[in-house]
Amino acid sequence: MLTHAEVDCLYHLGQFNQREGASVEIGSWKGKSTIALALGAAKVHQEKICAIEPHKILPEEKYFEDIEAEFFANIKQAGIDSQVAPLIMTSEEAARGWTKPIRLLWIDGDHRYESTKLDFALWEPHVVEGGILAMHDTIRKKGPKRVLWEYVFRSGRFQEIAILDSITAFRKVERASLLARLRKCMTLTMRAIYIAARKSRVPHSKEFGRKLLRQVTAQTWLPMILLVFSANIAR
Ligand SMILES: C[S@@+](CC[C@H](N)C(=O)[O-])C[C@H]1O[C@@H](n2cnc3c(N)ncnc32)[C@H](O)[C@@H]1O
Repeated sequence: MLTHAEVDCLYHLGQFNQREGASVEIGSWKGKSTIALALGAAKVHQEKICAIEPHKILPEEKYFEDIEAEFFANIKQAGIDSQVAPLIMTSEEAARGWTKPIRLLWIDGDHRYESTKLDFALWEPHVVEGGILAMHDTIRKKGPKRVLWEYVFRSGRFQEIAILDSITAFRKVERASLLARLRKCMTLTMRAIYIAARKSRVPHSKEFGRKLLRQVTAQTWLPMILLVFSANIAR
């Protein structure tokens, strides 16, 4: 489900260690994103990725098979099973009694609007100031798109909004600076161009829109939110 660039992006996000706190994943499925995050994290710190996944059959979201064994086999094969703390439960169940601050929150669970909204509402308050949130399927799926508009784009508490393919990543702050708000306008304009280009019949317009977003937001803002100056992100 993830593109190569998205896997690479998660690998870099996993390395984020400029703030204290846990790294939490909501929705692991077969473990591709878990592996990318954990491989990144293992490069810079010893903390495990908390991988929340109920491994339940969910026909409404087109999950018809039990993939728990496959998830465990995949993280073992990748050699990072000791870097992952699996929580076999829903995000709602995991949120009950959760008290740890979070430095990195990756939301890729149930994409229906009410569920995505619940994930955001339950987990975002635990993210520390300066911490990073990232969400998947934010270009095509209505649920994550609407949650982003309502809680992130309209809010003044998130900045350096970077969009890489279907991932939108951003940093939580107390109050976004004026410059950050201008950058957000730029990102949202390019996002609108990309979404329009996806529907247009003009040859190569979709690819152009995707690359533009990647190059301007992901290659510029992503290193900023990670507080690193790596030119290798999102190539
Ligand atoms: C899109 S898949 C995740 C893909 C995975 N992140 C990856 O990139 O390889 C969504 C996953 O969310 C899980 N899920 C559904 N409802 C959930 C909930 N309430 N809490 C946590 N995970 C949930 C589903 O079982 C499914 O495995």
